[in-house]
Amino acid sequence: MSGNHWSRMAQLWRLVGPPLRPAPEDLAAFEDAILGWLNAHSRAPRALILGVTPELYSLRWPAGTTLRALDGSRQMIKAVWPGPPAAALLGSWTAMPLATGCRDIVVCDGGFGMLSYPQGQAELLRELHRVLAPGGIFAVRLFAPRGRTGSIEEVFADLGAGRVSSLDALKLRLWGALQGDAQQGVRPQQVVAHILAAVGNFDRLAEDHGWPLEHVRSLELHRESTASYHLTEAIEVVRMACSDAGGFESVSVVEPGYALGACCPIVTLRRT
Ligand SMILES: C[S@@+](CC[C@H](N)C(=O)[O-])C[C@H]1O[C@@H](n2cnc3c(N)ncnc32)[C@H](O)[C@@H]1O
Repeated sequence: MSGNHWSRMAQLWRLVGPPLRPAPEDLAAFEDAILGWLNAHSRAPRALILGVTPELYSLRWPAGTTLRALDGSRQMIKAVWPGPPAAALLGSWTAMPLATGCRDIVVCDGGFGMLSYPQGQAELLRELHRVLAPGGIFAVRLFAPRGRTGSIEEVFADLGAGRVSSLDALKLRLWGALQGDAQQGVRPQQVVAHILAAVGNFDRLAEDHGWPLEHVRSLELHRESTASYHLTEAIEVVRMACSDAGGFESVSVVEPGYALGACCPIVTLRRT
């Protein structure tokens, strides 16, 4: 994922909503995972957010929690992180500027598929295994829409019939329709090309659906983007993490009940 992609997204992040940002049900699942750790340890956790997701900062963290965030984009930290500036670290998830065994809980919303598959995602799991203390947990909401959101034709038929609730829902459905396998991934650029081919121009899309023009026009950013997403199934994340070499065990896979919730499972893993 290019740093440039997120520096350009930073100013537009406030326009993004569920399902690409976490809904209350997702936050409840993250809080359950935190509670599970707390019940087993009875002390304040040392926690880390991968990314700067404001909703994860605002989770009901136990009193005394030491909370850090780690993000590779200085612009995203500046524009989006709501916490104390010193708590947000600039760095890579696959080479974290953190000591071995120094975190009890790591959470991430929608970031896993930003890494290449299988290499980048395996590197992330190795790095998480290093920074988590034994018994520590990693809870992550995945975007796993492949095979769950209909064909490209069905997505645009639903759009035409007013059955797509937001631009973010449209994106998630198109990721699912367009991604072949996780290694190949899906490029935001492809998504924009399909939208333009189907609806003609951004302004018409906004107007026809009553979606905020500024948000729809942000698709413009993706036209030249070289970014790609590698959207992995929950079962595959569990397989990678819980293999003999992986060093994790599966705690839970929660499928939220909202529309498209089947595409956004929350996987919790425990470091053995
Ligand atoms: C957490 S993800 C997905 C969006 C998420 N749903 C949210 O609400 O923030 C987005 C963030 O991940 C960061 N990011 C992506 N890949 C990264 C990596 N390999 N290392 C560090 N940060 C990364 C980007 O800079 C961006 O701020």
